[in-house]
Amino acid sequence: GDVAVLVPAAGAGVRLGPGGPKALRELAGEPLLVHAVRRLSVAPSVGQIVVAAPAGDVEAVCGLLAPVAGVTVVAGGSSRQASVAAALAAADPGLGIVLVHDAARALAPPELVERVAAAVRSGLPAVIPVLAVVDTIKQVDDAGRVVGTVDRAVLRAVQTPQGFRRDVLTAAHAAAVDEHTDDAGLAEKLGVPVHTVEGDEAALKITRPLDLTIAAAILRS
Ligand code: C5P
Repeated sequence: GDVAVLVPAAGAGVRLGPGGPKALRELAGEPLLVHAVRRLSVAPSVGQIVVAAPAGDVEAVCGLLAPVAGVTVVAGGSSRQASVAAALAAADPGLGIVLVHDAARALAPPELVERVAAAVRSGLPAVIPVLAVVDTIKQVDDAGRVVGTVDRAVLRAVQTPQGFRRDVLTAAHAAAVDEHTDDAGLAEKLGVPVHTVEGDEAALKITRPLDLTIAAAILRS
């Protein structure tokens, strides 16, 4: 494999309700992180997986992931962006393609990993998986009053894994001055063209309690 996958997994998971770091919450008897890493590890392109774990859980996470070959675990940071930067610093410099994948998207299939990696390999500097937006989206003011309706046809919901040429992701993080919710946002700031490929509904971000129910149903199907 010519791909390193960075897995930010150091979030608290507050929106999921009480119960510790989100990546360690269980789905069908196993932590979300284990589901995520196992799927990444069977994608043929993947040569290394670097997990950014909650600082207090590095040893426990090493133990959980010991059965999966090619996994490195580092301590994450206080923001998603800091966790990705910590993982990037530990990635094998010989791997020319770097993907960033949220542990919370635990059921992203290996085919999605391959689709993103192939697009970067074909010469694109930055690639993100996206889905059409099904809801009508409105912009509101501070009082919650509608300011306007955004044309849904030009909107996309963004997933991970997001893929980058290694030099592009390194430069994007080195230039970061403020917090972004995804890595493509940092690349956009640098003026790097970001391309899209089709996402996958199974790559939903497990964030709220209902998402766990949906994920369990996906596993059963
Ligand atoms: O909070 P959010 O849903 O954006 O988190 C997305 C991913 O980033 C999750 O997998 C979470 O564990 C990770 N994260 C992290 N370090 C933080 C905050 C979030 O690795 N400090």
